[in-house]
Amino acid sequence: MSDILQLVRPQVLAMQPYLPPESEEGMRLNANESAWRSEADNSVRGLNRYPDPYPETISARLAGMYGVKPGQLALTRGSDEAIDLLLRLFCREGVDSIVICPPTFGMYRVYAQVQGAGVIEVPLEPEKAFELDPGKLLAACEENTKLVFLCSPNNPTGQLLDEAAVFEVCRGLLGRAVVVVDEAYVEFADRASLVNSLDAWPNLVILRTLSKAYGLAGARLGALISSLEITGLFKRIIPPYALSTPVLEAGEALLGPEELQELEQRIEQTRLLRNNMARELAGLKIVRKVWPSDANFLLISVDDAAAVDAAFARDGILIRNFSKEPGLENCLRITVGTPEQNEAVVAVLREQGNG
Ligand SMILES: Cc1ncc(COP(=O)(O)O)c(C=O)c1O
Repeated sequence: MSDILQLVRPQVLAMQPYLPPESEEGMRLNANESAWRSEADNSVRGLNRYPDPYPETISARLAGMYGVKPGQLALTRGSDEAIDLLLRLFCREGVDSIVICPPTFGMYRVYAQVQGAGVIEVPLEPEKAFELDPGKLLAACEENTKLVFLCSPNNPTGQLLDEAAVFEVCRGLLGRAVVVVDEAYVEFADRASLVNSLDAWPNLVILRTLSKAYGLAGARLGALISSLEITGLFKRIIPPYALSTPVLEAGEALLGPEELQELEQRIEQTRLLRNNMARELAGLKIVRKVWPSDANFLLISVDDAAAVDAAFARDGILIRNFSKEPGLENCLRITVGTPEQNEAVVAVLREQGNG
């Protein structure tokens, strides 16, 4: 049995996955669908029909975008679903655990709790710019730790994790656990994705999403990328017809070569706006610190986050107050918006601090 197979829940290995029929051309009387399509249905394929269970066009497009083989990529309903399914693939209730590095994205813990897996915390170090300490992380792993979630760039702190530190974790856990690097914001970073390192680390999984840089949060489209072996195992438990016809059609229409070029420009614009805003915020009296960001948001600290949050709310501006998270006392996370929206943010902070 391969190293990876040994980590998979035995129930998943034993079961027979459901295989939806290929969408063949012909008179479809094999799926108990309605034969009538609504006049208001403006999809190409028809919403009275089940969606394509093997959506090759969009898979191939995303594989091309990310520079991997189509077989290495599994489409998911946002990366949230990939996190959930990874827990279900690897973690036995009450037996296995995951490692997370707070402050970080909250859904790793939520899905671990849903699955009944233990959660081991190895905090990033606020006084060292939220760096990851690979030695501490490896020391904290237990015999039944199956997954380590690393978020890079990290939400809500904004920084990329050091590549060498990530690889040290992969090396230390070879044959013992899977390392999941969540790259939801990597398009906004100066460093490229770690997909090119998948061949070097058979226990590495990368999560990507179209919700952030690609502007498709409402479509719920993400991808798990890994070795052919891990992706193949993951596909055993993906629900059939996971992606709906409107999502597949929107993805195909919005990720063509011209649209991608436009998106590249928007990403560059967001990076510029972020950097300008970081400089501007750093010059305001009320702002204690602006953390460097590789994402499309900025984490700042102020003296009284609750008061500043309330001032934003009075102006109808929604931001996130992270004060309750250990290591993030009086910290606020602000998404980079349009130039006008960013000006509105700066204006509130300026007014609160009187300059
Ligand atoms: C780090 C990180 N990972 C994953 C997600 C989930 O993204 P989605 O399910 O929209 O792909 C988010 C959303 O905010 C996130 O910040």
